[in-house]
Amino acid sequence: MKKILVLHGPNLNLLGTREPEIYGSTTLQDINMILRQQAEAANVIINFKQSNFEGEIVEAIQHAADYDYVILNAAAFTHYSIAIRDAIAAVRTPVIEVHLSNVDKREEFRHKSVIAPVVVGRICGFGVDSYKAALYCAINKLSGVDSDAD
Ligand code: DQA
Repeated sequence: MKKILVLHGPNLNLLGTREPEIYGSTTLQDINMILRQQAEAANVIINFKQSNFEGEIVEAIQHAADYDYVILNAAAFTHYSIAIRDAIAAVRTPVIEVHLSNVDKREEFRHKSVIAPVVVGRICGFGVDSYKAALYCAINKLSGVDSDAD
């Protein structure tokens, strides 16, 4: 069975109460449950990890060799972590970048993603649906349904 890892970065453990006008009121547990249902319906194994620590995210990416896809919301690290960017570039497992909010509509410092050049694609601005769309894309890629150019 195909395996997908969902990695959530710093402060995403606070979803539900953290700036709900920006991030919505859905908790991280709720998001994971929604994604688990979506994965199970597609016969895909899904695992989740949240960390507030850059090095833990680097290590999770380094250890993702037995996963077929990684869905990553690197949160604030997106905007400046060369270490996470290099980890993504170092592994063969493809990574999809996800954000709940539309980072391009927000403060200038959020417009830059240092991981953008090394991910398969980016989805932002759709709240929980950003994650669902990323999972949909990963599943389609893995099942060979996707026929577009990479
Ligand atoms: C975020 C956007 C980032 O700019 C921010 O630092 C986050 C969450 C999002 O999901 O919208 O923590 O990645």
